[in-house]
Amino acid sequence: MRAWTVLGIETSCDETAAAVVRGGPPGPGEILSDVIFSQLEEHRPYGGVVPEIAARAHVEMLDGIVARALSEAGLTLAEVDAVAATAGPGLIGGVMVGLVSAKALALAAGKPLIAVNHLEGHGFSARLSDGVAFPYLLLLVSGGHCQLLAVEGVGRFRLYGTTIDDAAGEAFDKTAKLLGLPYPGGPRIEALAGTGNPGRYGLPRPMLGREGADFSFSGLKTAVRHLTLEQQVDAPDLAASFQAAVIDCLADRAGAAMAMFRRDFPGRESPAVVLAGGVAANGAIRAALGALAAQEGFALSIPPVRLCTDNGAMIAWAGIERAALGLFDPLDAPARARWPLVTVHPPSRAG
Ligand code: KG4
Ligand code: ZN
Repeated sequence: MRAWTVLGIETSCDETAAAVVRGGPPGPGEILSDVIFSQLEEHRPYGGVVPEIAARAHVEMLDGIVARALSEAGLTLAEVDAVAATAGPGLIGGVMVGLVSAKALALAAGKPLIAVNHLEGHGFSARLSDGVAFPYLLLLVSGGHCQLLAVEGVGRFRLYGTTIDDAAGEAFDKTAKLLGLPYPGGPRIEALAGTGNPGRYGLPRPMLGREGADFSFSGLKTAVRHLTLEQQVDAPDLAASFQAAVIDCLADRAGAAMAMFRRDFPGRESPAVVLAGGVAANGAIRAALGALAAQEGFALSIPPVRLCTDNGAMIAWAGIERAALGLFDPLDAPARARWPLVTVHPPSRAG
């Protein structure tokens, strides 16, 4: 298998990131550089990501970040094989900044362009880190997404469940806000929960035991809001109670998806389940998924935290997966605010 060297650019939310990765499917890949500028300070005063501020910051930062990614990799643009960038889904202003830059770089250097679906980037990150073979079950939990999918190959995803309202990360962020904690709330809630009593507040577990593998988190968020309005809450206890409820929901839905995966891909000794997306940074969630996987006979794979939150390396790697199949994109490839994984066009060649 030929090794590809790809520059990856990520600008779909509040991280301006670029990386150079070398390798080929099924991975693992070699991360030659991985530069991430987090815009946290820019957005903190507003308690969440402000799209206009994000787009402006990407414009200001991206050139320097790309230059650093190349220099840390010890390469010039002429020495990479292709330029990959997130083309969606995400905040459209930011996506356009990254994609237009990638197009300019590709055009100037005479390199092919790869327009990457951000979710495919998260979804393949365990191949970059561990070379996990297709097919596998993926629990993708981030600030914008909460999905359970069978990943069969490039552009080939089978959706088992998705959130019918909020994403898991969004629930963490909103709960943190109710507790007066700064954005992003996930890491703050996790830290507080570590010292709290998860049995203190009785919170709902939406969708538990329901048919299918869909999620819902808005009822949980509403319950937290009512609690904070009705009484003086103990923040660590509420954080712990909230996190325990999220974990029960994730584990129940993941368990249901494991049964679906076994039905669709029978006869596999120890199928892989991958936990990816920013929420996968949560230690308690990792531990709960580990216990569930052990109980259900699945092998759990979690990329390192740096590859779970938004980064350029996963975009470069998704570019490598596509390049290896000869899947490149024209220079007029569109930036998309919405781009569900199940409509990612399947590869034209067998893969
Ligand atoms: O994947 P990501 O970096 O960006 C999106 O594509 O959304 O995920 C960010 C999300 C935020 O909602 C953040 O609060 C959450 O991941 N997150 C966490 C933790 N670290 C980040 N949630 C729970 N526990 C954490 N330790
Ligand atoms: Zn993401």
